[in-house]
Amino acid sequence: MSPSTLLNVFVLAALSLVGANAQVTGTYPATPLASKTFTYPSGIPEKVDTDTGLIRGFQHGYNQCNSTTEGPNSLCQTSFINSIDDFCLWAPGEPGSVVANTEGEMVAWCTKPGRGTRLIPQYALQGVQFIKTPNYVQVAGFIRQELINIDSADYGGEMDPHGADLRGNPMGGLIYSNAFGGDGGWTQVIEWHNFMGGNGFCLKACDPNKPDDEKYCEHRLDRIGCAYNAPNNAQNGTFESCEGENQDFPGVYTVNGQVMTYAQPPESEGPITTMPYTARIPASSNCVTYTSSALYTALPSPSIQIGAVSTALPSGASGSGSPSGSRTGAAAGAQNTSNGASSLAISGVSFLGVVFSILFLA
Ligand SMILES: *[C@@H]1O[C@H](CO)[C@@H](O)[C@H](O)[C@H]1NC(C)=O
Ligand SMILES: *[C@@H]1O[C@H](CO)[C@@H](O)[C@H](O)[C@H]1NC(C)=O
Ligand SMILES: *[C@@H]1O[C@H](CO)[C@@H](O)[C@H](O)[C@H]1NC(C)=O
Repeated sequence: MSPSTLLNVFVLAALSLVGANAQVTGTYPATPLASKTFTYPSGIPEKVDTDTGLIRGFQHGYNQCNSTTEGPNSLCQTSFINSIDDFCLWAPGEPGSVVANTEGEMVAWCTKPGRGTRLIPQYALQGVQFIKTPNYVQVAGFIRQELINIDSADYGGEMDPHGADLRGNPMGGLIYSNAFGGDGGWTQVIEWHNFMGGNGFCLKACDPNKPDDEKYCEHRLDRIGCAYNAPNNAQNGTFESCEGENQDFPGVYTVNGQVMTYAQPPESEGPITTMPYTARIPASSNCVTYTSSALYTALPSPSIQIGAVSTALPSGASGSGSPSGSRTGAAAGAQNTSNGASSLAISGVSFLGVVFSILFLA
């Protein structure tokens, strides 16, 4: 059976099962991924998705990652989001991939070595905003996605720990954070979402010890991208770490004092071309700006298109002249981010593009 035939079979099976709200052997694991908890690093099994005979096959990579697995061929599926200089994104293992076709097999691409993963190459990150709010941490920004194996024309899709078959996308993918305090150790992030595509990204990881993590990290609005699921102030060419207030729950908005909930239409009704609202971008504060060279000190050179890449460095990036001048030098002082018109940076054409993308399962 060809991969696309197999995919179609799975999609049809999954949709009919979801429609019937059925629990059928062959599709669902005994325990949904989002219900599996492991202590990092001591409690991590080699793979967390071990059911056999399921329709999407076996977990592509592994969760126990170490110095042996680290590097450009790593299939590590244990990921992290800690700070602006220390986070990972889900991206494909093979060059030129389309997110919708590879969401189940994504591997961790990180900004820091030492945890057995791949590293995001130099020049790939073109602008990043990290934000910590009372209920979550989020990273959003601009990326040269072909350097992390995503086809340059792909508008992308969404990864989350659920998926139609509850095995997650990627299957068996785990995320940990040390940003939620406590005893200063690692917290397993139970609810998260990660949109990749359109040369942008957003990853929100909700604090499992705070209420409503499943609402802030809503995983069903997979067709409306970062602008609606993770509304943010990320700017291309700017690298900043901020504090902020919580967003509204994705899909929940207020018109004339009335609280409304957006219902995402099914794929069968065709592309989403209009939205009844614009998501509110919450206030951010205490933003600290950096140059990427100060943040990302251990990234490998890109393995492809080096010439094209080096001529298109963002203004804040390593080794570039700075057209604006204002973003050079390490760790510029704290400043507040404007929440004005420029705040729609990542919801423009590139990211609304997710709206028009074809099938990918929530
Ligand atoms: C390193 O990780 C791999 C892949 O999970 C695993 O097979 C191997 O046993 C690990 N090695 C050590 C020394 O832990
Ligand atoms: C920045 O934001 C903080 C918190 O909202 C506020 O207290 C402070 O006055 C602001 N600073 C400037 C320069 O606007
Ligand atoms: C971000 O800026 C770089 C450098 O100017 C540009 O090449 C790239 O297309 C921009 N990305 C997006 C998504 O607009």
